[in-house]
Amino acid sequence: MALPVTLHKEDSIGLVIIDNPPVNALSQAVRQGLVECLDAALGDDDVEAIVIACEGRTFIAGADISEFDKPPLEPHLPDVLRRLDEASKPIIAALHGTTLGGGFETALACHYRVASRGTKVGFPEVTLGLIPGAGGTQRLPRIVDVETALDMITSGKPRRVEDLSGIVDRIVDDGLREATRSFAQALLEAPESRTVSISGREVDKPADQEGLFRQWREKIAKKYRGQISPRCCIDAIENALLLPFEEGLKKEREMFLECRGSEQSRALRHAFFAEREAVRADEYAEEPVEIRSAGIVGAGTMGSGIALCLAAAGIPVVLLEADWDNLQRGLDAIHSRLDRNVKQGRINEAQSRERRDLIRGTCDYADLGDVDLVIEAAFENMQVKQEIFSRLGEITREDAILATNTSYLDINRIADAVIHPERVLGMHFFSPADVMKLLEVVRADRTDDRSMATVITMGKRIGKIPVPVGHCYGFAGNRMYACYGREGQMLLLEGATPVQIDAAMENWGMAMGPMSVLDMSGLDISYKARKQNPDRPEDPLYFRPADMLVEMDRIGRKSGAGFYRYDLKTGDKHEDPEVTELIRREAGSLGVEQRTISEEEIQNRMIDALINEGARILEEDIARSAGDLDVIWINGYGFPRYRGGPMFYARQTGLDRALQRIEGYRERFGDHYWKPSEFLKRSANAGEWEK
Ligand code: 3HC
Repeated sequence: MALPVTLHKEDSIGLVIIDNPPVNALSQAVRQGLVECLDAALGDDDVEAIVIACEGRTFIAGADISEFDKPPLEPHLPDVLRRLDEASKPIIAALHGTTLGGGFETALACHYRVASRGTKVGFPEVTLGLIPGAGGTQRLPRIVDVETALDMITSGKPRRVEDLSGIVDRIVDDGLREATRSFAQALLEAPESRTVSISGREVDKPADQEGLFRQWREKIAKKYRGQISPRCCIDAIENALLLPFEEGLKKEREMFLECRGSEQSRALRHAFFAEREAVRADEYAEEPVEIRSAGIVGAGTMGSGIALCLAAAGIPVVLLEADWDNLQRGLDAIHSRLDRNVKQGRINEAQSRERRDLIRGTCDYADLGDVDLVIEAAFENMQVKQEIFSRLGEITREDAILATNTSYLDINRIADAVIHPERVLGMHFFSPADVMKLLEVVRADRTDDRSMATVITMGKRIGKIPVPVGHCYGFAGNRMYACYGREGQMLLLEGATPVQIDAAMENWGMAMGPMSVLDMSGLDISYKARKQNPDRPEDPLYFRPADMLVEMDRIGRKSGAGFYRYDLKTGDKHEDPEVTELIRREAGSLGVEQRTISEEEIQNRMIDALINEGARILEEDIARSAGDLDVIWINGYGFPRYRGGPMFYARQTGLDRALQRIEGYRERFGDHYWKPSEFLKRSANAGEWEK
């Protein structure tokens, strides 16, 4: 097997090349190889300077995350980097691609850095529940100002080298390796500036150090509710100002190891790999086809959001509406969204113009005659959708893929309207479509592999996380959501208040409480969906509080009242004692006895409802894996990423314990909702989701 690190001598330069595809992660073999090549180069009298460069698409993109669940193996990264730092010959890193985490730490431990223009550097450790663990928190504030270090390390967001002063010594447009060699050669000709270690520098201390760190701690507490590693990042950076380098380094390593062993980091690492696993399109027997143009039917909120996603990826879009007024409204919404993005600095004027030009409006179906893909985003009504698909079947090319953005309608029936139903599938975007990452790709009974592979590949191209799911009412995400929501509604009848339930779930880590979500998305929308559910339970308690509010015209935020009351001018939300009273009376007339309910019961019942339904979905092969369901919940429903998704959470906290709780609910509330899934039972025995 080829060695992942090799040393090549070119005149007086020792070139250390790392070649560990796909991203040159710092596996044990790479660390070992680095030590050996460095020792060889340092011990070779002919070598006067050392260049470290990488093959492939990027310089080192970090530690090898897949090693974090195994016992650590020597040489440890901080020891490797110490060798660089203390080397007697100048060491220059040649950076390109995404130089992240341990890769950026390696670069900072070198004496100099040369980078290709556009190279991104950053510390994404916080997104994995970690802190930089090989000197990043100590070296970065010694080379950039403290506030920039705080921002980069606590946000995890990479920055382009051009936007950061002081990080690199030279930026080149092309010929990185040759330019780095020339840089090294020039150094050798000016021997006084040979080895300059960042570790030897003083931190440029800010004027109000205490105030700055206090501010960041407050900011982080709000942004990362309940998470450990962001706080550790700040503590470690503060140490860089308070302690000598070596001591700061030691403390950083201690915190890194503590974070690495935490449940939160395990969960975040699971999310990282589950997301990459979910979007694989290599299981399909047919190759994906490139989507070069697309049509969208419906220029409402979803349709225009989807158009923006496609245009952002450079795909020309024909946006179709039934009449010119609606079309103009959709186009206006798109243009104002683009203007807002420019104002917020997300895109520049040229990008905005380019995207605007890529979206062409029409009211004529014939304009969709030559597109590769059509996404229908019209009303959630079977007849409307069938009519649209029947037209699409007539005017589109036979190989054009036809997708519906329905949230719950039967895609098999929609496909009946089309001559080649194997090209029909669901593309379930989440609102706002240009922001939310999740895309459920729904395979209907006749959908072929080519359509699945194509849409998943295109989904990735437009920046989504496309997760394939099978066909059933609500698909995977909304089907689980219905059980979670049902339990919330039952808890209301049993005596919990909307505020109490929202607080319980937000404290648990959900982005927003379930009653606030219902109010925000419109109680009438979910009411209508429930009415159309062919499997709706014959239970007078089922979603009774929500249905009752809709029947009283309290349809949520847009009407000024739902589970809460809203000030329509300011948007402020207020608790509404009238709702609690209405629910109390309704519970009485339905024979439900009210009681005091603990926060723990609310949290357990709502999450257990997700776990049990998730298990059923796996049993029925609606989802391929527990990891796919986690990805869906993290990216579409505000499930806390640091808990890894509902299925990961269940496994971590014990499938047997989840099963026991569910058996307990069954005894209390009956079989109706709480029959434990057989799949959960089997998995609880195995201690692991069986697939
Ligand atoms: N360790 C192990 N595998 C990694 C990896 C890593 N650090 N980074 C990426 N991979 C794997 C992915 O799992 C994927 O594998 P697959 O093809 O089998 O699914 C493959 O590399 C390609 O990754 P992406 O699909 O994500 O490729 P992209 O081109 O979209 O993105 C990237 C490349 C920007 C480098 C992205 O992979 C990424 O962000 N990686 C993580 C970087 C990171 O978090 N680094 C810090 C690690 S922690 C650390 O360094 C601790 C240190 O302080 C001690």
